[in-house]
Amino acid sequence: MIERTFSMIKPDSVLRGLAGEIISRIERKGLKIVGLKMIAVSEEQASRLYAVHKEKPFYKELVSFIRSAPVIVIAIEGESAVSVMRRLIGSTDSKEAAPGTVRGDFSCSKSMNLIHASDSVENAQNELSIFFTEAELMKYERLDAKWVC
Ligand code: CMP
Repeated sequence: MIERTFSMIKPDSVLRGLAGEIISRIERKGLKIVGLKMIAVSEEQASRLYAVHKEKPFYKELVSFIRSAPVIVIAIEGESAVSVMRRLIGSTDSKEAAPGTVRGDFSCSKSMNLIHASDSVENAQNELSIFFTEAELMKYERLDAKWVC
């Protein structure tokens, strides 16, 4: 089924010059980027994105990290996009992430783990609405679509 998901290239990726490499992996997988922008995350956006972690001991660190430098937010569409993106980025703790995944190839950290991707269709809808208006999501077809999935 064609799904939409949300992803965020985090400050560590931007500061390390890894954004292009990561975006390229998303494109090469055959997923369609339908929205993309570099932003400074506001306090309100951070608290909405991380609402489920509010009571966790690392919450403050989480918010301050995500607001420490620009991020790139991406809206992605494709066949099973939610689970495909989760596999492409690898386990949350980068030390355990499989080689070949973004985290497995470029990080050893749990907090600075380079990229976020929604873990369900429902959360994707909510997270997309925090960072994109419907008008910012583009409609087009990739020319290679029928060769990819
Ligand atoms: P992500 O899944 O993108 O969104 C929630 C983030 O919380 C997660 O990535 C990790 O970066 C971070 N996180 C999860 N567990 C811990 C932890 N124990 N200590 C620090 N950060 C964590």
